[in-house]
Amino acid sequence: MLKVEDIVAAYGPIVALHGVSLEVPEGSIVTVLGANGAGKSTTLRAITGLLRPKSGTIEFEGSRIDRLSAEEIVSLGMSHIPEGRQLFSELTVLENLRLGAYSRFSGTDGGSRLAQREDLSPLGRLQHKLFHAATGGIRDVARGIRGYRQRRQDFEAALNQVFDYFPILAERKKQIAGTLSGGEQQMLAIGRGLMASPRLLLLDEPSMGLAPMVTREIFEIIRAINKSQGVTILVVEQNANLALEIAHYGYVLETGRIALADTSENLRKSEAVQRSYLGQ
Ligand SMILES: Nc1ncnc2c1ncn2[C@@H]1O[C@H](COP(=O)(O)OP(=O)(O)O)[C@@H](O)[C@H]1O
Ligand SMILES: [Mg+2]
Repeated sequence: MLKVEDIVAAYGPIVALHGVSLEVPEGSIVTVLGANGAGKSTTLRAITGLLRPKSGTIEFEGSRIDRLSAEEIVSLGMSHIPEGRQLFSELTVLENLRLGAYSRFSGTDGGSRLAQREDLSPLGRLQHKLFHAATGGIRDVARGIRGYRQRRQDFEAALNQVFDYFPILAERKKQIAGTLSGGEQQMLAIGRGLMASPRLLLLDEPSMGLAPMVTREIFEIIRAINKSQGVTILVVEQNANLALEIAHYGYVLETGRIALADTSENLRKSEAVQRSYLGQ
């Protein structure tokens, strides 16, 4: 489903990834393990278009995506749950979930999108916009009402699914996100990502800053999301124990290079992994 080949990525003069390759088969859970600074977040940023790789290729369902914008990549069916959750902490739980659905339900105003067509001259674009404002607006309203019911149903279905996975979010839907516990905030971050109904979910260190019990609960839910809905998952982690428990396949990233790649079962048995990541 996802194929990353030999990507090099840098922040100015600092090269963070020196030719990383990895594959995520459809329906699987794949983990990328690595110490702080190994390049885990950079790998996810390169995949989701937040950082353009200097070289290498990224394919999603057979098509190159390494030159697309982050918005375009999201619309293909990928959700990125960033490190540190990045919630709208002043907004309520429900408002955060609504914003997660935004990418999926946006782009219905065909007229104004057309006005951004690159083959129109600036004057043509202006004329088109004025024309659209006068006439297209009415068409859009009609189309909007027809589409509204369907969108509303899709939204409710996605919301109910999120509440099934995370019942606590249903109980807290009017609570301000910033006042939730760390574990609840991580649940909300994942829930917000699920609102876009992704086929590939990318998770950046979901265990960060959480107590072991809470981390375990979240990993069990990640496993359930994969199992019951068939959502493919790429999860990067420092917590190798839990990640290897739920993943089918794993990679070990060391200073921007893949040092090991194997089934989770073999990685768990590997001496190098035990020494460096499992604290044994
Ligand atoms: N915004 C940034 N500017 C400059 N260097 C960065 C930036 N983000 C990360 N780096 C560097 O890139 C390398 C990889 O970082 P990162 O991908 O965040 O690692 P990880 O997620 O595995 O902890 C590190 O050396 C880090 O210092
Ligand atoms: Mg990171």
